[in-house]
Amino acid sequence: MPAAVPPGPNYMAEPYYQDKQATLYLGDALTVLAALPDACVNCIVTSPPYWGLRDYGQPGQYGLEDSPLAYVETMRVVFAQARRVLAGDGTLWLNLGDTYANRANAAASKSFRADSAAVMPARVNATAIAPRKGLLMVPERVAMALSDDGWILRNKIVWHKPNAMPQSVTDRLSGRYEHVFLFAKSPRYHFDLDAIREPAVTAPGRTWAQRKAAGEPGRHGLAGQAALGRGGFSAAAAGRNPGDVWAMSTRPYPEAHFATFPIDLPLRCITAGTRPGDVVLDPFSGSGTTGAAARILGRRYLGIELNPTYHDLAITRLAKACAGPRNETLHELVRNETPGPAGPVRNETRCQAPRCDNPIPKARTGRPRRFCSPACRARAHRAGAVLTHIR
Ligand SMILES: C[S@@+](CC[C@H](N)C(=O)[O-])C[C@H]1O[C@@H](n2cnc3c(N)ncnc32)[C@H](O)[C@@H]1O
Repeated sequence: MPAAVPPGPNYMAEPYYQDKQATLYLGDALTVLAALPDACVNCIVTSPPYWGLRDYGQPGQYGLEDSPLAYVETMRVVFAQARRVLAGDGTLWLNLGDTYANRANAAASKSFRADSAAVMPARVNATAIAPRKGLLMVPERVAMALSDDGWILRNKIVWHKPNAMPQSVTDRLSGRYEHVFLFAKSPRYHFDLDAIREPAVTAPGRTWAQRKAAGEPGRHGLAGQAALGRGGFSAAAAGRNPGDVWAMSTRPYPEAHFATFPIDLPLRCITAGTRPGDVVLDPFSGSGTTGAAARILGRRYLGIELNPTYHDLAITRLAKACAGPRNETLHELVRNETPGPAGPVRNETRCQAPRCDNPIPKARTGRPRRFCSPACRARAHRAGAVLTHIR
């Protein structure tokens, strides 16, 4: 097994894995990015470790900085390198989640997993940044730092998770979304809106008068008629703009004991942000969800990851992912790749409580269960506020 990338500004490791469409580098994101040439990728889709939420058990991992501000600076530096390697007309789709300020300096919980991941890190006292219980606004802070650095923030997308884990909190609302920030490197960038349009609500080809008579919502007056076009043909014929609120259920990759995003998410970003054959980068590749999406869509992939176990998962996943037939819709692509069922209740096979990975015994009622025992369920509910951040 190749060794991890040693630190050093000009070090370029041998790829951990390479085939005609994918290259995986093992090592620290910043180190590997610094060794890549300028403008060598067309689009970046990624989800870095969130601040203070998970210990991936690897020296050099991000997310365990002493304060949220130090984390923001880490992200700023990493994404400055990412910007250099991105083509002039490229985009960055950055998924980030948040957490709350805590006074307690609780000890880290121990991991018994083979990949040392999925443990809660020692809680860092962040009350210098926000009052106790205050939302730290880490994603917004990162977005502002990147914007100050020259990135053009084009959208603050809300990723709504219809199947978000229940939270045991009683003095605030449950968190059910995360952000995906869309950044461009320059004002003119590649964005294929038509490729991600959603089915039109209104049947295409109907005249404005027909729509109005049917009492359909829409723009009235001249602007509305102009938008629909003279012959009654409208932009809606091509489908609706999907908007900046994306409802996508979490779909954990069964083999990965850590945060993965649902493949729906990179599929949409890559479809809009690239052309066939383009190179998609994920500097925090994990189980390779972005890579699988890139492969399905006929794009090339460059993944960077600290943990070789995760790269091994990604290699298996890349081997399984294959381009679908040309006429397959995004919906069909998602359904065909998705390893776990979507929906309000996930059919987990492993206990979802912190520090437990036991298999879940079959329920007599046939209802899907999340925990292996009542004790684990109670523990998970006590840790509810924290658990819900584990995507
Ligand atoms: C949120 S996970 C990404 C999950 C991925 N989107 C997926 O669907 O599988 C963040 C990943 O960043 C990796 N990581 C943490 N620190 C890193 C660093 N300094 N350089 C590269 N990867 C790092 C972790 O090992 C973890 O796999």
